[in-house]
Amino acid sequence: MNINYNSERQIFKIDTENSSYIMMVRRNGYLQHLYYGAYIKDDDLEYLFSDVINESFSPWAPSAGVKFFALDTQPQEYSCNGAGDYRVSAFSVEMECGNSATALKYVSHEIFDGKKRLSGLPAVYVEEDSMAKTLEITMLDELSGAQVVLSYCVVDGFDAVMRYTRVKNTSNKAFFIEKVYSTCVDFDDKDYDLIHLYGTWAAERTMERKPIIQGIQEIASKRGSSSHNHNPFVALVDHNATEEHGNAYGFTLCYSGNFSAKIEVDTIDQTRVIMGINPEDFKWKLCPGEEFTSPEAIMVYSADGIGGMSRQFHKLIRKNICRGKYKNVRRPILINNWEATYFEFNTEKLIKIAEAAAPLGIEMLVMDDGWFGTRNDETTSIGDWIVNENKLPGGLSVLTDKLSQLGMKFGLWFEPEIVSFNSELYRSHPDWCIHVPGRDRSVGRETAVLDMSRKEVVDHVFNAVSSVLRSADISYVKWDFNRNLTEVGSAALPADRQKEVFHRYVLGVYDLAERLTSTFPDILFEGCSGGGGRFDCGMFYYFPQIWTSDDTDAFERCKIQYGSSICYPTSVMSAHVSASPNHQTARKMSFETRGNVATSGSFGYELDLSIISNEEKEMVKAQVERYKDLYDTIVNGDNYRLIDPFTNSRWCAWEYVSEDKSRAVLTYVVTKYKIKGRYHIKLAGLDPNTLYKESVTGRCYYGDTLMNAGINLGNDLHDGDSAILVFDKV
Ligand code: DGJ
Repeated sequence: MNINYNSERQIFKIDTENSSYIMMVRRNGYLQHLYYGAYIKDDDLEYLFSDVINESFSPWAPSAGVKFFALDTQPQEYSCNGAGDYRVSAFSVEMECGNSATALKYVSHEIFDGKKRLSGLPAVYVEEDSMAKTLEITMLDELSGAQVVLSYCVVDGFDAVMRYTRVKNTSNKAFFIEKVYSTCVDFDDKDYDLIHLYGTWAAERTMERKPIIQGIQEIASKRGSSSHNHNPFVALVDHNATEEHGNAYGFTLCYSGNFSAKIEVDTIDQTRVIMGINPEDFKWKLCPGEEFTSPEAIMVYSADGIGGMSRQFHKLIRKNICRGKYKNVRRPILINNWEATYFEFNTEKLIKIAEAAAPLGIEMLVMDDGWFGTRNDETTSIGDWIVNENKLPGGLSVLTDKLSQLGMKFGLWFEPEIVSFNSELYRSHPDWCIHVPGRDRSVGRETAVLDMSRKEVVDHVFNAVSSVLRSADISYVKWDFNRNLTEVGSAALPADRQKEVFHRYVLGVYDLAERLTSTFPDILFEGCSGGGGRFDCGMFYYFPQIWTSDDTDAFERCKIQYGSSICYPTSVMSAHVSASPNHQTARKMSFETRGNVATSGSFGYELDLSIISNEEKEMVKAQVERYKDLYDTIVNGDNYRLIDPFTNSRWCAWEYVSEDKSRAVLTYVVTKYKIKGRYHIKLAGLDPNTLYKESVTGRCYYGDTLMNAGINLGNDLHDGDSAILVFDKV
């Protein structure tokens, strides 16, 4: 990695091992983008620019010193709105006079070792300064006094560039930031497919791939969270890019609130990508001297196709975003009571489940929703974090004492940001939720969303949750969030700051998460939002795993886990074996296949283990032992997607290869029986010259054979059949 400034030509060159990112100060201070792609040695690419003449319909920049230099047709490094560039833009401020035409010019720059922390925001981090390099370019919009620092950072070992923007008001009047995207990249062609991950509750991160078209396409959320509907991830890939070949550019945001990613192909066939906080419902008042920091965007380039891009993201998220004790320690294999009991449980019932689980090797019992207040269904008590002694007489310690006798740990569900309308908390503080005075409050699961933009609300939740966590031996917290924001306003902010609430809300959530995770460093925090409704790099900074989806059906999970893996590593995906027929889809599935699919994740069970058959209990034992054995390869290895469940109607497959290539773990699942189907598969990522022994047949193959000729799984496979095959170096 390196960052270099060519002072003669005013060119910045940011290099990772396999990628280069180049920009240039040009024509009276306009900062122009030159190149992003495979590593190149040269930096002087000014010859690539051509001044496109389109006189009156793309007026030329007022102070560029030459005619025909139109910002509208030139690649920009951080485009502004209203001063000549008509494409989607990254930045604008509204001045006191009401005008918002903005024009940023280069002022200075600094290159230094290390990476700054973003105050109050999650971001990629490094342990030592020698592991990263940062470039900060200071720009100024002279008229408004908006000083903008564009930050670029590279981290040793990754083909990734991290970007964010800091805005400072250097004038003596307040102004409003109308939009402040975190990244903006201009490409000089339009020959790409767009990959994005859309979905809904219980069907998150469906992969879609389509050629980009003239005009604007936006992937975004306005729900107050990153959402089930659109994940904060987009990629531009060559039309012919495959899993292993072709250029792939991935963009994701370390942010859990409203986001926007826009892709515009302009009429001269150039493409712009911008990503950041969604400017809709956003406006931030910046008083003289004040600063605003945008979330961080992560950009990955790979010449090794979509798989190469994904593996870069996986490693970066695992190693430089996830934190805490459980970053490197194997997470306990758990039994969660939600699908086993829903709200119908008491101490006795939970102990029965734990007594069945402990001898099978399961290490932790998680008590899900329904343990507090008077909550026996969805209608009450969220916010009243007091143990319901009708269900749990004697409190949590009765349960934890019993669990410790069984050698098991204990975990607990919370929904810290939510309040039930029917709760003591809501009755005593009706103004503590997000609302607009005088407007009826929308109802989501009989709840409102707490106003996390208010410090006293965050303090209250911190104290309430902490006192439960201190009251018993608790090793895990499942932090759920089951409602999107509506009627967004805060009783604590003046009129001209109401459009700050969405972002202040997210900052409040991060503050709470930071305080709880640092106060209780031994607790494993799992994120959740009705499954994977807030599954993003912002959350992974606090929670090293997230409940991937409320859909636990093995076929559906093949898609959800596959789609998620386009950007996110297996280590962050919680996956549980649940009952058959499945509670979401009613599909029947063998115990074996449910276990095989859940093994590709942070593993656990979510069914009543006290009523399963002895044969199934033996299978649980075997699955638990196998998971422990395969954990390191699955969680820390390289993930190769082999057969895509979205486009192959017959089966799907994926593989993990250990870092030293001494072990590979292949999983396949047959999703539809076809008569006379052939089930051959080629592995990937192996050492061609290593001899591997396959675990089921004992047959040995060289790596090159497995990758080129593949293996034959026969043709007698049926709907729902699956297997995990392990290939160990002989
Ligand atoms: C939604 C979660 O995704 C489920 O796993 C469960 O915790 C419920 N909430 C409880 O209300």
